[in-house]
Amino acid sequence: SQGAMGGRGAFILFEGADRCGKSTQCKLLVDGLNSRGVEAELWRYPDRTTAIGKMIDGYLQSQTDMDDACVHLLFSANRWEKRKLMLEKLASGVTLVIDRYGHSGTAFTAAKKQPGLDLEWCKSTDAGLPAPDALIYLEMPVEETLKRDGFGGERYEKTEFQREVVKNYELLRRDAWKCLDASRTIEDLHADALKIAMGAVEECRTGKPLGTLWE
Ligand code: TYD
Ligand code: MG
Repeated sequence: SQGAMGGRGAFILFEGADRCGKSTQCKLLVDGLNSRGVEAELWRYPDRTTAIGKMIDGYLQSQTDMDDACVHLLFSANRWEKRKLMLEKLASGVTLVIDRYGHSGTAFTAAKKQPGLDLEWCKSTDAGLPAPDALIYLEMPVEETLKRDGFGGERYEKTEFQREVVKNYELLRRDAWKCLDASRTIEDLHADALKIAMGAVEECRTGKPLGTLWE
C-alpha cells in the first residue's frame, strides 16, 4: 500500500435518484482510476452482504416490513459498521468510489414524510461518519429517469416517491457538490467524473484532511 509515502486515498461519492446512471459511472471511474495507476475500489450502500445489509435487502424487496425509523437506523448502521475498514483503506492509500451514502439515507427516509423523520433527524444518525472528498451528483428530472429501462420492483422505485427524493437532494445540496447533467452520454459523464476524481485524489495525496459528516 502507499501509506505515508503516497498519502491517503480519496473518498469519491456518487449520489442521485434511482436509474440516473450511478452504478455505470462508478464502475467506469474505478477502471479509469486503476488504469491511471490510482488504486481504487468500488463500494456501495446499502452493502447487502452483511447481517444488517440482509435485513435491509429483505425490506427493500418487500419481504419484510419495518418501522420507518428502524429501517433508517439500519441503513445508517450499515455505514457505521464499515467505517473502520473505510478509514483503514483510505489511510493505506486506496481511493474508494462509493455508490450512495448518507445523502441517500436522508433523501430517501425524509421522502416518506413521516412525523419526526425530518431532514435534521435523518441526518443526525450519520453525523461523524467520514465525509466524501468529492460528491458527484448525477442530476436528472424524474420524468427522464422514467424513460430509461424502467424501475425494478423494489420498494422505493415509484415515480411520486422519487420526486420527493429529488426534492430532498436539492435541500441537501451544497456549493461543493459537483453536479453533472445525467442526461449526457456515458462517455461525457465519465470524462468529467474522472477529472473531478483525479483532482480529489491529488488533493488527498498531498495532505487534504478527511472530513466528517455533515460538514
Ligand atoms: P440501490 O442503489 O438502488 O441498490 P441497487 O442498485 O442494488 O438496486 O439502493 C437501494 C435502495 O435503497 C434505493 O432505492 C435507495 C435506498 N437507500 C435508502 O433508502 N437509504 C440509504 O441509506 C441508502 C444507502 C439507500
Ligand atoms: Mg435500485
